[in-house]
Amino acid sequence: MISSSDANTALIQLESIGKSYGEIRVLQDIDMQVQPGTVTCVLGDNGAGKSTLIKILAGRHEPTEGTLLVEGEEVRFRTPKDALNRGIATVYQDLAVVDQMSVWRNFFLGQEQTGFLGRLKEPEMKAITAEELKKMGVDIPDVDVPISTLSGGQRQVVAIARALHFGAKVLILDEPTAALGVKQSGMVLRFVRMAAERGVGVILITHNPHHAHLVGDHFVLLNMGKQVLDASRDEVTLEQLTQEMAGGGELEALSHELRQ
Ligand SMILES: Nc1ncnc2c1ncn2[C@@H]1O[C@H](COP(=O)(O)OP(=O)(O)O)[C@@H](O)[C@H]1O
Ligand SMILES: [Mg+2]
Repeated sequence: MISSSDANTALIQLESIGKSYGEIRVLQDIDMQVQPGTVTCVLGDNGAGKSTLIKILAGRHEPTEGTLLVEGEEVRFRTPKDALNRGIATVYQDLAVVDQMSVWRNFFLGQEQTGFLGRLKEPEMKAITAEELKKMGVDIPDVDVPISTLSGGQRQVVAIARALHFGAKVLILDEPTAALGVKQSGMVLRFVRMAAERGVGVILITHNPHHAHLVGDHFVLLNMGKQVLDASRDEVTLEQLTQEMAGGGELEALSHELRQ
């Protein structure tokens, strides 16, 4: 039976999370929640602390302050495996794929299915890869081709489909559209939405307010390690998001200055 408090338990909750490297404080007082079936966008300029924040969630760095809760339970991740075991999957911008390997080998990388005497269950893995991609509406004629032959957008989608197949409850995407053109960005953003519709809590890191606003349910903006905005979709317009990203009034002041 699900009680109302269970229904409200966030997949992830950060309470006053902070991170210092020696004397340098790169994150402070971060409070955020990730709910199932939603897309939370983390925005911020270069150096704002976005990557540091996701490394904490992904088990690559331990926070120096605050508390991290997963499904209501306090956790301390010491390795990325700890985060994965709690259903938190991270897709990094560089994707960690093996270029020469086929799409299906990359799909099952590190989680291969084996049969008698450790023999790879090749036909089974190919079929699953093809099926999972088809479910996401990706049209890759042959999962045997090297992953390097796919477009950047398709590779992102393979990584997303893979995380979902292996049971991710939380999917963290670090700037998945940063290196993509408009059309491919659109494709990746559609899959971001699809992942949320399958019940996953997606965390989308981006410095593009347009991309964020297209798919986001919730927006967190970081500026020099501090959370300067935490708003749901009905609380913020694209214009406000864009302006906040540009440093609030700073851009406006600059535009006046330039026109003089
Ligand atoms: N290992 C580290 N040691 C010291 N400073 C770091 C380290 N990693 C990141 N930083 C600093 O933390 C700040 C935030 O970096 P980062 O999280 O990568 O920002 P973003 O991803 O938003 O561009 C930057 O000023 C960066 O130089
Ligand atoms: Mg970064």
